[in-house]
Amino acid sequence: FGNGLAATPPMGWNSWNKFGCNVNETVIRDTADAMATNGMREAGYRYVVIDDCWHGPRDANGFITADPVRFPSGIRALSDYVHARGLQFGIYSDAGAKTCGGRPGSQGHEYQDALQYARWGVDYLKYDWCSTGPRNAEEAYALMADALKGSGRPILLSMCEWGTAKPWLWASRIGNLWRTTSDITDKWTGKHDYSLGVAAIADLNEPLWPYAGPGHWNDPDMLEVGNGGMSDAEYRSHFSLWAMMAAPLIAGNDVARMTPSTREILLNRDVIAVDQDAAGIQGHRVWKDGDREVWMKPLADGGRAVLLWNRSEASVPIAADWSMLGYPASLRLRVRDLWTHRDQGQISGRYLATVPAHGVVMVTMRA
Ligand code: GLA
Repeated sequence: FGNGLAATPPMGWNSWNKFGCNVNETVIRDTADAMATNGMREAGYRYVVIDDCWHGPRDANGFITADPVRFPSGIRALSDYVHARGLQFGIYSDAGAKTCGGRPGSQGHEYQDALQYARWGVDYLKYDWCSTGPRNAEEAYALMADALKGSGRPILLSMCEWGTAKPWLWASRIGNLWRTTSDITDKWTGKHDYSLGVAAIADLNEPLWPYAGPGHWNDPDMLEVGNGGMSDAEYRSHFSLWAMMAAPLIAGNDVARMTPSTREILLNRDVIAVDQDAAGIQGHRVWKDGDREVWMKPLADGGRAVLLWNRSEASVPIAADWSMLGYPASLRLRVRDLWTHRDQGQISGRYLATVPAHGVVMVTMRA
């Protein structure tokens, strides 16, 4: 897919997981200010994306306008504000007549909307799939991709179809990322109405690893880190799993008011480097025994990121055997723990660690 964007998985922030429809220009400005000063921008978080509910009505010529109460200064001013802080600006629409929040969708207005986004300086479009009726997803997303191309501005396309039409089979030709599941919720696992906990999403997204690569990524949905429904150990697992899966790292918390422990998770440079590795290979599970798993992600320099994941309620030992990783048992490897930031020395045969309940140990291994 040829817009040249998202060579590594996109990083940024989106309003939905924390603010839902309670979004307004103050929230977006506060977020941009925070990201420009709290280390997030330097760590790679680049896009500030307004999700659903920014829309007002269409004007007399059919152009979309902003909600005049929530965004009284208008979208162009907000986009300028975000750009002035060295960040990029994203927006949300829907391939149907209405967005999931009941605002005007882009169906029948694709070219006009793409033109308006380009005029506003939009860099990223999340394109949802509510009220699409019998529409063909591939055609609908290809139409918006063509409209974005015609706008003359490079705009990253995030396709939010929830996996029903198996977008991994076609979407890499159309846009930069595609949702693989229904919505995430701020819980460890399980199905909750239409949404899924972190472990349930990881299970659905993991087998799709062969479809991801530079410019085109599986999207297991945005991060819940810091939203309060999980423990820090669970949030570290969530963040580590997303990095192992080369997932977009789109923070979904109130980054202007986060706790030091949330900040430490979101700003873990060692883990971010695994997500952003230039080879763009999505990691996958290489071993499982009940609640104990080992995941592996090959890295561009020939090393590997390895995740020991304990899904159970008690801490347990987990070993990554060199045979699981495609290494001869005698090979000596330098192991670095990405959460304690400590080098573990030269190790051969296997790496054994005690992994806390619902927790992970994440390392890199290099010859
Ligand atoms: C859908 C999407 C979510 C969010 C909401 C907004 O549920 O999957 O990520 O954009 O719509 O209404």
